[in-house]
Amino acid sequence: MCYDFAMTITNTRIVLAKRPVDEATPDCFSIEREELAELPDNQVRVAVEYISVDAGTRTMLRGEGFHHQVGIGDTILAGGVGHVIGSTAEGWRKGQAVRGGLGAQTIATVTPDQIERIDDSEVPLSAYLGVLGGSTGVTAWIGIRRVAKPQPGDIFVVSAAAGAVGSIAGQIAKRDGARVIGIAGGSRKITYLIDDLGFDAAIDYKNEDVNERLRELAPNGVNVFFDNVGGPILDAVLDNLAMRARVVICGAISQYDDLDNVTGPSSYLRLAERHSTMEGFAYFHFPESIGPATAELKEWLVDGSLVLAEEVLEGIERYPEALQFMFNGGNLGKLLVKAG
Ligand SMILES: NC(=O)c1ccc[n+]([C@@H]2O[C@H](COP(=O)([O-])OP(=O)(O)OC[C@H]3O[C@@H](n4cnc5c(N)ncnc54)[C@H](OP(=O)(O)O)[C@@H]3O)[C@@H](O)[C@H]2O)c1
Repeated sequence: MCYDFAMTITNTRIVLAKRPVDEATPDCFSIEREELAELPDNQVRVAVEYISVDAGTRTMLRGEGFHHQVGIGDTILAGGVGHVIGSTAEGWRKGQAVRGGLGAQTIATVTPDQIERIDDSEVPLSAYLGVLGGSTGVTAWIGIRRVAKPQPGDIFVVSAAAGAVGSIAGQIAKRDGARVIGIAGGSRKITYLIDDLGFDAAIDYKNEDVNERLRELAPNGVNVFFDNVGGPILDAVLDNLAMRARVVICGAISQYDDLDNVTGPSSYLRLAERHSTMEGFAYFHFPESIGPATAELKEWLVDGSLVLAEEVLEGIERYPEALQFMFNGGNLGKLLVKAG
């Protein structure tokens, strides 16, 4: 036991104030401060340093659905990393770096099964939410190596290409020998994809006609599409599939604000015409691949062959703004909030 019981500790947390109707605007959240009670038996107290901001969080703010749900007045569910500041649980020492579902708050009080030890001696702590994060780098690795499986010479297209998952998926496909085309919004992202990530081409869907650009860039069709956004972008790529193409549904962020009225895909008959497949996945469908994915991603991170930009907003109070920033396409790479 190493917790200093004499110290008063205040936790600042972001709670759901009301369910968003469409966009999750900052008024849907409130900031609450609470003095923490003495640590009960078999608990670990963690000072949260970084909080992961994820597209999937938007779906947790609904009343029901695929992901775990956040109740009104409850702390927003989020992955986080930090250091142990107190423990009444055997084997957990003060100072240990940990990762887990710590929530959007500055101090998390958890049971040992909610956290895992991490080693931040070779890579920064934040990398455990980015390149090494389950819903980020690991998702990209599993989506590419276990589902999409691009082959050398394949034309590989990825949407939300400059985001956390998309930027890593594109880099892995490139390593595997594919010709990689990214779709993203705005010139800053297009420059980043080509100059920093080494993509072969990029399409600015906010300022260009995706269908027309794909016809120019992939006249013989797209072999693999790794989709993170759904909606009109999915339709445009379906229109440009090669024979025996593979469409992998990783996510559909363009639909998350109104999941009761999901639109498209209206061009799905192209799958029949082009003898193609569409397959969805979640990274937790491949539990046996999480270890190998993490090990290989860490190797690439340490040897410098994998790039992941991080965009960090400072201060727990900025969490609501961060979620809105992501849905407005502001972030390059992994979006994080620095809690403490
Ligand atoms: N299958 C799984 O296991 C799994 C796990 C984690 C995440 N995911 C999915 O992966 C996708 C990416 O998630 P992430 O956390 O890495 O987020 P991210 O890509 O870092 O950020 C989301 C990006 O989506 C784009 N976007 C937002 N609204 C859009 C719209 N209406 N149309 C087109 N693009 C839009 C924005 O970039 P632009 O500027 O390019 O618009 C934004 O930056 C999400 O669909 C998420 O649900 C799946």
